Amino acid sequence: MSFMKLWSGRFKKDVDSRVNDFNSSISFDGRMYKQDIEGSIAHATMLGEAGIISHEDSELIVSELHKILDDIEAGKVEFSIDAEDIHMNIETILTNRIGDAGKRLHTARSRNDQVALDIRMYLLSETKVLKAKILGLLSAISDKAKANIDTVMAGYTHLQRAQPVTLAHYILAYAQMLIRDYGRICDCEKRMNVMPLGSGALASTTYPINRERVAELLGFPAVTENSIDGVSDRDFVIELASALSILMMHMSRFSEEIILWCSSEFGFIELDDAYSTGSSIMPQKKNPDVAELVRGKTGRIYGDLMTLLTMMKSLPLAYNKDMQEDKEAIFDAIDNTLISLEVFTSMFATMTVRADRLRAAAAKGFINATDCADYLVKKGMPFRDAYKVSGKLVAYCTENDKTLEELSLDEYRALCDVFEDDVYEAIKLENCVNGRKVRGGPARESVERQITIVDEFIAENR
Ligand code: ARG
Repeated sequence: MSFMKLWSGRFKKDVDSRVNDFNSSISFDGRMYKQDIEGSIAHATMLGEAGIISHEDSELIVSELHKILDDIEAGKVEFSIDAEDIHMNIETILTNRIGDAGKRLHTARSRNDQVALDIRMYLLSETKVLKAKILGLLSAISDKAKANIDTVMAGYTHLQRAQPVTLAHYILAYAQMLIRDYGRICDCEKRMNVMPLGSGALASTTYPINRERVAELLGFPAVTENSIDGVSDRDFVIELASALSILMMHMSRFSEEIILWCSSEFGFIELDDAYSTGSSIMPQKKNPDVAELVRGKTGRIYGDLMTLLTMMKSLPLAYNKDMQEDKEAIFDAIDNTLISLEVFTSMFATMTVRADRLRAAAAKGFINATDCADYLVKKGMPFRDAYKVSGKLVAYCTENDKTLEELSLDEYRALCDVFEDDVYEAIKLENCVNGRKVRGGPARESVERQITIVDEFIAENR
């Protein structure tokens, strides 16, 4: 098959072979073959309808492009780096198959608006997959939350035991983050979903094209309003990389918790064997590699975002070849976020919660000291005084190696005679949790409300 340079007319010499390799993007933009073909089918259809090319040529192009698509999917087509990128590979294959009609496809079009279209379409197909994976993780969180509404644990600040919550309440915090991540991807989609074809190289075209018709054929709700911006805008790529960076930051925090929790020191969870690995030397080891890799890959996604921001910085209008570098960065960000979401979800769904260990750790940290102070406040004492009494009790317990639950009523009353027998009920961790019925709090009814919100979100978006 001949892959002569489509632009060879102006040149007297062949391109240096290293430049040929250097310039070529087919090794990574080949994955946009479907979008490139769909875009060309819409363009050729419009050219035919507008009388810019003949109906016969238009139909021949469209039917051959369908065949090329089938052949690519059947693994029958080999791309060549000599044709540089996916756009020229497809056009060359088409022209080799149908001759002159194929040469008419690129009328009123430039690779600059073609690539802008392809990348938008490709990213829009990937955001659908990303959103589905987020819903998958949300549903795993909802299931675990339902099973752990009464699993009392210590909530932490500064990684010090702070106040009692439940595991359901704890992991539902991540559900809120993921719902925002989902929303950020939807926001990106709005600006991605604008059709740039017709911008030409930068100055549009003199042919009487119908841009709205192309948009309609491809399912875009809008077309770009400035041809220079149409070919030089990559905001939507950066926006997606930034949404993915924030998402991965959340995943990295979640991973860090998993890593801590499955250590012997915490022992709050046990990972399924299928989602942990052993050591080549230490027989006792069971390592949380999945969570560690998700945490590690987060840096890489930030790197992709930086690549994109730096690549676009200072670029004069309109298209510059620098912009070819957008693809590897955003593809890397998407691929790694997708695999992270997928593996993390299965790891999370299959982990075993050790409620006894969570409860035991919660018992030791005086996490009911605030509730002890609140008890006195409810009996009429000002909060600051009550805070001091409770603090003294904690100091007394620490010196005598006791918990608040283990003090006798005499010990309580020795410090403050407001204490009565009902203090034991007030400081019981289960009661401390269930007393926090505030919207957003850890009490059963508040957590049930949170679970409903997550379940409704999943149902509305599935
Ligand atoms: N492969 C190129 C890219 O990804 C396509 C656009 C090339 N346009 C050009 N004028 N060289 O950006």
